[in-house]
Amino acid sequence: MDISIFGLGYVGAVSLACLARDGHRVVGVDVDQTKLDLIGAGKTPVVEEGMVQLMKDVVAGGRVSVTRDTRDAIMRSELSLICVGTPSAPNGSQDQSAMLRLASDIGIVLRDLSRPHVIVFRSTLVPGTVEEVLRPIIERESGKKDGEGFHLCFQPEFLREGSSIRDYDKPPFTIVGANTPQPTERLRELFGHLPCEFYSTSVRAAEMVKYCCNNFHALKITFANETARLCEAMRVDPFEVMDLVCQDRQLNISPAYLKPGFAFGGSCLPKDLRASLYFAKTHDVELPMLGHILQSNRAHVDHAIAKVMASGKRRIGVIGLSFKTGTDDLRESPMVLLTEHFIGKGLSVRVYDPEVHLSRLLGANRRFIEQHVPHIGSMIHGDLNSIVAESDLLIVGLNDATTMEQLASSVRDDQIVIDLVRLPESVRLRGQYQGLCW
Ligand SMILES: NC(=O)c1ccc[n+]([C@@H]2O[C@H](COP(=O)([O-])OP(=O)(O)OC[C@H]3O[C@@H](n4cnc5c(N)ncnc54)[C@H](O)[C@@H]3O)[C@@H](O)[C@H]2O)c1
Repeated sequence: MDISIFGLGYVGAVSLACLARDGHRVVGVDVDQTKLDLIGAGKTPVVEEGMVQLMKDVVAGGRVSVTRDTRDAIMRSELSLICVGTPSAPNGSQDQSAMLRLASDIGIVLRDLSRPHVIVFRSTLVPGTVEEVLRPIIERESGKKDGEGFHLCFQPEFLREGSSIRDYDKPPFTIVGANTPQPTERLRELFGHLPCEFYSTSVRAAEMVKYCCNNFHALKITFANETARLCEAMRVDPFEVMDLVCQDRQLNISPAYLKPGFAFGGSCLPKDLRASLYFAKTHDVELPMLGHILQSNRAHVDHAIAKVMASGKRRIGVIGLSFKTGTDDLRESPMVLLTEHFIGKGLSVRVYDPEVHLSRLLGANRRFIEQHVPHIGSMIHGDLNSIVAESDLLIVGLNDATTMEQLASSVRDDQIVIDLVRLPESVRLRGQYQGLCW
């Protein structure tokens, strides 16, 4: 394939060398003449393992050329990879100035191009940038429409500096965000042979996945480092601890706990987090990330409260009271916090929880209810159908099969359903459904 690459930094230079190695003809474009001169002479503009030899080989092979001229590069290629820098501005926002200038330059060239061109944004971009910022610029300058005169898509780049050629050849996955099939098919030709899954999604989701991955990596490093500082104070070897933590592929290094849903609670996580933080405080150990988890968890509860209060409804059915489906444990349940808030605001509240109701009958959780939440005890009812019938809004924090079946057949069209746990489709299609964050 004939490919142009804009921006010959770490991402662009490595992509250029690897694509040329794989048999494609590649023209590299940069505003920095020094980088162009280096590549033109078969030298690498970035320090990366394997790049010195690879650049020498591919330039000698005759499949690489360089230019400063956007028009020349677009005219000589059918697909462009856009890899210009998107650094931080002083206020923390993304500085997209290089990207905006380039989008305008590309649009002007596309005006005179008789065949459709594929433009693949590989730079990290704030979600919405391709569709709301770059597409309008290119459409305005070219006088053509995305999906007709040209094809835009977003393909996040996952290579890491220091191991970028190896990462290029073995990425965690390939993700293409596109609104039409053509760009995805072209990228499948370029990257479909790589030993990883190839996913196609929306442009916006692909933009967001890149941020989510980087945020998650930052979170993981910070977690390991905060744990190490805690270990030091506790006189435990942090490597031994983290090595063992990583052995758990069921709950720790796995998709467990990574589904959006409601706040955590229960008898373990909040209390153990608090004990860790207290220990750290008494040993002068700073743990800013762990120290803000409970605050973040509370923000999630407040978000649910705000949704209910914004509805203006006054007869509320709370479905699920324990801290998760399948248990009767009410300790630190965020559903209890919600319910207490609604009672405090003078709303009419009815609560249904099959486990808690059963346990009340058996007496298992009775003492907790009587001692800690006596005001809620009288609101618990065993008949879900009557709670649904007498509520204007249902807020659902459990998803056991029997309850779902009942809800799917009893929710009315005029009722608001606020979903805290990603309910099954049978319930999502009922009433005036609102996800908590989805
Ligand atoms: N560095 C990484 O490991 C990495 C990994 C994944 C994603 N990314 C993302 O990829 C993008 C590029 O990162 P990088 O580290 O390669 O950047 P970089 O700063 O090393 O290189 C960017 C290049 O773009 C060139 N440039 C600027 N304006 C241009 C224009 N109008 N036309 C042509 N070239 C132009 C610059 O001269 C520079 O050589 C960023 O959005 C970054 O967030 C980087």
